[in-house]
Amino acid sequence: MMRPYLILVCFAAAIGGFLFGFDTSVISGVVEFIETPQVFGLDEIQKGWAVSCIIIGCMLGCVLTGKPSQLFGRKKMLLITAFLFLFSTLGCALSDSFTAFIIYRILAGVAVGSASMLAPMYISEITPPEWRGKMVSFNQLATFTGQALAFVSNNILYKVDGTDNWRYMLGIMIVPSGLFLIFLLFVPESPRWLVQNNRKGKALDVLTRVNGAGNAQSELEEIIDSLEKTVVGKFSELFRGKMKKVMIIGILLAIFQQVTGINVIMYYAPAIFKSTGLGNESALFQTMIMGLVNLTFTVISILLIERLGRRLLMLIGSVGMGVFLAAVSIAYFTGHFNGIIVLVFIMGYLAFFALSLGPVVWVLIGEIFPNRIRSHAVSLAVFCLWTANFLVSFSFPFLLSHLKGGFTFLIYTIMCVLCFIFVLQYLVETKGKTLEQIEKEMIG
Ligand code: BGC
Repeated sequence: MMRPYLILVCFAAAIGGFLFGFDTSVISGVVEFIETPQVFGLDEIQKGWAVSCIIIGCMLGCVLTGKPSQLFGRKKMLLITAFLFLFSTLGCALSDSFTAFIIYRILAGVAVGSASMLAPMYISEITPPEWRGKMVSFNQLATFTGQALAFVSNNILYKVDGTDNWRYMLGIMIVPSGLFLIFLLFVPESPRWLVQNNRKGKALDVLTRVNGAGNAQSELEEIIDSLEKTVVGKFSELFRGKMKKVMIIGILLAIFQQVTGINVIMYYAPAIFKSTGLGNESALFQTMIMGLVNLTFTVISILLIERLGRRLLMLIGSVGMGVFLAAVSIAYFTGHFNGIIVLVFIMGYLAFFALSLGPVVWVLIGEIFPNRIRSHAVSLAVFCLWTANFLVSFSFPFLLSHLKGGFTFLIYTIMCVLCFIFVLQYLVETKGKTLEQIEKEMIG
């Protein structure tokens, strides 16, 4: 049955995913303007800082959001995040010194980090089981779309005359940030958080609106049951008792999503293509193909996730990603590094990522942790994801110049093999179960 209200609510939250994608990617177009003497005149180190400082903000953002989202609710924190997106967008676009620019980019990172943990958690808590995988994956679709549109918008604004193009590239984000804020005013609070805060009547209302009157009462009872015998968990409990195993699984999922190399491709693809002999001018074309592949396979993933389940998609994905990464590595080793072949291998890798680790890891992070401690656990897992992102994207240029392409891509291939073994051994299937059933299976 179609659920228009649920879709609208998830759409509103997924604008957070869109901004996450847009804000992290937009810098690629901005940097070539701000590095010029007419703007800030940056050296190599300042340039690296301008690009990567956002990730420091992201790491901060997900840590800072965990506890308040437990205390004040998911909706309020989403609203604050939207406000922070608006504020940092204005600040970046209007900054008149490099220091101001960096401060606002870090603040933008705090918004991204916060949105990256809140949006999947909120969607997961508000959606009935048979829709949950699809809806959280939809958030991933929004992230990809944000990444692709940032590139397209940069390309359009690049041609506008003057030295202020970078201000427009950043400033355009006012539109989605404003929409995020407005839409969020109308979404309901998470029913799980409401029950935790003794507002069962309101929680029933929300469940009825998203899941229909027939299912709402039983879902409410299940939530009450999972929360009643427990007190709200503390951060220090994340590694105690049975929770420890679930926490480690969540952290490893987050790390595997990154150490299998996705952001090497997302951030460095144009440079990789260039090194294969494909010209700079085809960058737009390549990015459009990347966007198309991403989009197609994330949609396929959305269609399959409730049928095949998370576990099978993760297994298929790690094999596919590993095979294509191995092919890239062999191409480097054997010197058969011609443009089109590498393009095909990288697209193959991307297709499997979009089908599996891309959306599914976010779905799992939103659903495997128990209600009473979910916000702390999600925030720690997402913090590890951003840290791994930082380490991988930061070390790539160094590895490429010291180990060369063959060994560098071999490392990511080995990570895919480890991910496959990890999923096979430790991941239980969560499709079709309520968050409370998953909790029972994981923690008992
Ligand atoms: C990852 C990001 C990545 C993006 C690619 C997300 O699932 O968390 O690190 O850049 O996918 O679209």
